[in-house]
Amino acid sequence: MMQMTINGVVQEFEVDDQTLLVEVLRDHFHLTGTHIGCDTSQCGCCTVLMNNEAVKSCTMLAAQATGSQIVTIEGLASDGLHPVQEAFSQEHGLQCGYCTPGMIMSTVHLLNRHPNPSDDQIKEGLAGNICRCTGYVNIIAAVKSAAKKIQEKTV
Ligand code: FES
Ligand code: FES
Repeated sequence: MMQMTINGVVQEFEVDDQTLLVEVLRDHFHLTGTHIGCDTSQCGCCTVLMNNEAVKSCTMLAAQATGSQIVTIEGLASDGLHPVQEAFSQEHGLQCGYCTPGMIMSTVHLLNRHPNPSDDQIKEGLAGNICRCTGYVNIIAAVKSAAKKIQEKTV
């Protein structure tokens, strides 16, 4: 029996030892906002937070995540959209949207560490996430806008 807290809810379930965390999230709990975009651990579409760290859920066995706190894109919005979600929408930080859940989860992690990130910190923070559409300019603008929104909320 495995147990983890997913988006604030304690979940117990049985899967075999080879099951990936992304498979548990998508197939077992139908949290399909966590995408699979590659089979080489490179694209970052599958990024979730595990104990507040950004992890690629396609590279982690569910067994390695047992006992942890997992947050997926579905868990971010509580009272309306999360500021990072709002900023990506407003700044057109997406086109097809396939990379977006992973980008947003990595951005949340980045802004937890660097509330007012420089361009270099943003590039470094999102280095594990690939977008094939946007050219990244609007993504960087969205991260900056999100940082501002979060700061305004906390003042
Ligand atoms: S699906 Fe591409 S890194 Fe996980
Ligand atoms: S918006 Fe299409 S891959 Fe990023």
